[in-house]
Amino acid sequence: MSATIVAIATHKGGVGKTVITMALSAAFARAGQPALVVDMDPQGHASIGLGVEVLDDELTLRDFFLDGSTPIDKLIRETHVKGLHVLPSNIRLAPVVQSLYMRPRREEMLRRGLASVRQHYSYVFIDCPPALGVLTETSLSAADLVIVPCQMEARAVDGLVDLLEMVSLIRGPSFDAWRILLTAWIRGRPSRTMRSWPSSSPELIGF
Ligand SMILES: Nc1ncnc2c1ncn2[C@@H]1O[C@H](COP(=O)(O)OP(=O)(O)OP(=O)(O)O)[C@@H](O)[C@H]1O
Ligand SMILES: [Mg+2]
Repeated sequence: MSATIVAIATHKGGVGKTVITMALSAAFARAGQPALVVDMDPQGHASIGLGVEVLDDELTLRDFFLDGSTPIDKLIRETHVKGLHVLPSNIRLAPVVQSLYMRPRREEMLRRGLASVRQHYSYVFIDCPPALGVLTETSLSAADLVIVPCQMEARAVDGLVDLLEMVSLIRGPSFDAWRILLTAWIRGRPSRTMRSWPSSSPELIGF
């Protein structure tokens, strides 16, 4: 087994990244497909949401990114769902971000770190922060698949373009393993997002 690594990413806040991460990972774990959630958001919402409390002396992703020498398997925490594990974060991850900008090959850190644990899981889901910074950069570099949640609201498409440009910059223009996941869809109600979808760019719609 070698997990498929899925990054849930967009810099738009509050569009469902964490909810999608938690729902998909728990669903796969319950179906007998072990899953690991990587909480890349210093808000720590995925960790909290999956019931993982982080005490001051416990290891988090901060320790991994701080010096790159803390093995990632030392951070793994179990959840109440069998087969669902978390690499937790909290607000202490935030100050580490600045030092990462100076790190050579920083974008490879997460993929290299996950290499030692991915054989234990069917899926690794990375919950990205609502930003296009270094934490999202290393998450996009690690991903086999990028899921971009898009809420059904006016001007949502504008935000997608920035994220997809970042994907293209990091992974190269031929990388096409990304899909847009439409969220907060209200059946039967005409959506301004759908009406404003650029008809000249049908390839924007992954599924
Ligand atoms: N499909 C949905 N329909 C309705 N409400 C939703 C849906 N998905 C998420 N929500 C609600 O929207 C809010 C934000 O969701 P969530 O925390 O998953 O967003 P996020 O993109 O991770 O936010 P952030 O950018 O702050 O990390 C939550 O209150 C959540 O319950
Ligand atoms: Mg979130």
